[in-house]
Amino acid sequence: MKKYSVPKNFNSSIGHNSLDNYQSLRKNAEQDSNSYWESVAKRIDWFDQWTTVNNTDYSKAHIEWFSNGKLNASYNCIDRHIENGLGEKTALIWQSNDPTTSTNVSYNELLKKVSLFANGLKRAGIKKGDRVCIYMQMIPEAIIAMLACARIGAVHSVVFGAFSSDALKNRINDSECKLLITQDNGVRGLKFDIPMKENADKIADKCPSLKTIVMVERSENDMFMKEGRDITWNQFIDGCSSECPPEVMDAEDPLFILYTSGSTGKPKGVMHTTGGYLVYASHTHELVFDYHQDDVYWCTADIGWITGHSYIVYGPLSNAATQVIFEGVPNYPDFGRFWQIVEQHKINVFYTAPTALRALMKEGDDWVTKYDLSSLKVLGTVGEPIKSPEWHWYFNVIGNEKCPIVDTWWQTETGGILMSPIPGCIPTKPGSATLPLPGIIPEILDEEGKVITERNTTGYLVMTQSWPGQMRTVYGDHQRFIDTYFSQAPGNYFTGDGAYIDDDGYFWITGRVDDVLNVSGHRIGTAEVEGAIGAASGVAEAAVIGYNHEIKGEGIYAFVTLMTGVASSEEIKKDILDTVTKIIGPHAKPSVIQFCSGLPKTRSGKIMRRILKKIAQNETEDLGDISTLADPSVIDSLLEK
Ligand code: PRX
Repeated sequence: MKKYSVPKNFNSSIGHNSLDNYQSLRKNAEQDSNSYWESVAKRIDWFDQWTTVNNTDYSKAHIEWFSNGKLNASYNCIDRHIENGLGEKTALIWQSNDPTTSTNVSYNELLKKVSLFANGLKRAGIKKGDRVCIYMQMIPEAIIAMLACARIGAVHSVVFGAFSSDALKNRINDSECKLLITQDNGVRGLKFDIPMKENADKIADKCPSLKTIVMVERSENDMFMKEGRDITWNQFIDGCSSECPPEVMDAEDPLFILYTSGSTGKPKGVMHTTGGYLVYASHTHELVFDYHQDDVYWCTADIGWITGHSYIVYGPLSNAATQVIFEGVPNYPDFGRFWQIVEQHKINVFYTAPTALRALMKEGDDWVTKYDLSSLKVLGTVGEPIKSPEWHWYFNVIGNEKCPIVDTWWQTETGGILMSPIPGCIPTKPGSATLPLPGIIPEILDEEGKVITERNTTGYLVMTQSWPGQMRTVYGDHQRFIDTYFSQAPGNYFTGDGAYIDDDGYFWITGRVDDVLNVSGHRIGTAEVEGAIGAASGVAEAAVIGYNHEIKGEGIYAFVTLMTGVASSEEIKKDILDTVTKIIGPHAKPSVIQFCSGLPKTRSGKIMRRILKKIAQNETEDLGDISTLADPSVIDSLLEK
């Protein structure tokens, strides 16, 4: 595989300019981990210094960083920049879905807006430690709401705006949120027709902890407002003071919960705490994107996912960044939208998902070349492996061969990027996240938990040591945290990903080794989708697997058996799609539904997914060992697709 050296004229503004420089950072961090992380932690303003840097004990699944340190995340993302003379600096450039509308918010304005809303939360009875749910699209109020929670010590739980009302209900109930912040309608293309408040109305009565719904008026639609429960954003802050002193938080006080899919049907509430998470998000944002004070940064993620938390809210804002936040989609009003925004706002650092690149690449270069993209300096990708065609398109057509591509590997659980090229230092190879960041110690293990030392041999990717941004627990279920991450390879953090190391020591992620799919960079559990399909009328059983999909990376392929006497039909297919949309959201809809008379199961009843995978991918010449199947005849019916 060809290696690309750091582009000739790339000059790191934060001063990391050579592979030697990286190697010495990595060596220092390994030799004296505490001093390394202590020096990194100084980038954050602490009200009180920590007493111990790292109190982690992996053997007990106990993770603790910067013990007894006191800080506030919102203070670090706003106030301290104002104290440093950056009050008038633009924090957010909100680019509306409508190409003609954008609004700038300075750090001074952000402080005012966050403080007003924080006081509104207090007036509504929200206290330190209370959980607040945020269900919104990409509008400034979403970020203001997150920072307002952090300011008063409330724990936010953001639910991606495309999740259905059922999914919202389950998340609100799991963490017993007292207050929900949403908007009237979300926008899609020309229309404000995503029924966000209506989704909340449908389930509010089934959420015993929920007392208040705050609604941003984004559209001009008339909305139902329940007396005593619902209030508009403007009424909520009406009469509040625009000063709100930040709550003093312990480093290990929770900052947020973010639900993510695992191998069971129930999403996990990944819990991150304040000190370590903020240190890590801030540090990696600067290091990986070579973020410099004059840069304009744009991450196209949504705050509903971890990328939005770490690389839209806490990382960039703690670094006093100026960034674009974008309400729209890459193909509205046309396929040039991303590049038009890059030109308009003179973006220097651009961070997106391979799935978006694949979709845009397919539409041809004319959508790109009509815009001036010369401001670009660093290009990033996240969420799934980037394949060679889109990597080269990104490098050649978007970056004009002058921008390093940072392929960042990380997870909701890791809080921040663990592996990525550092732009001025590490030569890249298309499809590899290259090397671990300093202080991160990955290893590849075999089935028995032994370290694989041979090169190019795939095994399980683990981390042998903690880092400050690591999740602390599964909210309300510490045993699940232990079982999921610390039982497969005791003494290590188990990532759930497969990987191998090549001859240059570069890491290649081969995908999930558990029953988790990665559809357009969105993480979805097969068990969740199977459960949702099973709820459609007439369905007896379903098995879901991921298959190679040209745009989505992985598409969802569902094998469905129907109840006796029920015949397959287009109506049942439609009902299945509607049911999945209702229970999870449209992003979890299967791309292919195949009806079958039975599923391939072992005698103990376990579905043999590897057979289904081969059938879905048309690799049916060799299905492997099928001797353990309880009923081998199902294979013939499956092949008749
Ligand atoms: O399988 C890996 C894949 O996405 C998973 C994490 O998903 P999530 O928690 O939703 O976080 C996504 C955004 C950080 C990982 O276990 N993944 C993430 N980044 C990459 C990746 N696979 C390959 N290359 C990447 N750069």
